[in-house]
Amino acid sequence: MKIEKIIFATGNKDKMSEIREILRDFCDNIISMKEAGVEADIVEDGETFEQNALIKARAVWKQTGQLVISDDSGLEVDALGGEPGIYSSRYMGEDTSYHIKNRNIIERLEGIPDEERTARFVCAAAVIFPNGSEKVVRGVMEGRIGYEEKGGNGFGYDPIFILPEFEKTTAELPAEVKNSRSHRGKALRAVRAEIETYANSDSK
Ligand code: IMP
Repeated sequence: MKIEKIIFATGNKDKMSEIREILRDFCDNIISMKEAGVEADIVEDGETFEQNALIKARAVWKQTGQLVISDDSGLEVDALGGEPGIYSSRYMGEDTSYHIKNRNIIERLEGIPDEERTARFVCAAAVIFPNGSEKVVRGVMEGRIGYEEKGGNGFGYDPIFILPEFEKTTAELPAEVKNSRSHRGKALRAVRAEIETYANSDSK
């Protein structure tokens, strides 16, 4: 069963290509918020990744009534009490470079040994179906914070996030390797499973 149209509540091109790839066999018309003509100024004032993902999805669903997907993600560092968490993009200010943010996290972890440098990338993804029913799922990738920035791939906190399976940062790994294990990949594949159930049900 094919789905006619899906709106992904993001302005990020990389996220658009990842979701198009993951949902390719269900829908060949996955469009961004902008392409859907949605001009909402969405205030993400939730207290969890799940709440923020739902806030975005609901805002777009209200304007379109279409099948909407959204996601919200971030880095949780255990030794920093879960910071930066839902504030990952706003940490030290939205316009501060990730070089500065990453250096700051490493400095705050000075003297902390490997076993206490645990961290995870978290992604909550929300889907709202045209009939208004909602699902929220979560994907997690566990790792730890390194002692220096390494690697030129990826974005954001990737240069300081070590994936224990490879003993390399996610910025040192090829995109396919990261995506097959990433928080976002896992959450979007769980969304895919929800859409599959919906597409095969009678509740459309
Ligand atoms: P958002 O989900 O687009 O709001 O992104 C949240 C923020 O979390 C990003 O701006 C990054 O700071 C961080 N983040 C989320 N996923 C990743 C990742 O895969 N690598 C590096 N940083 C990430």
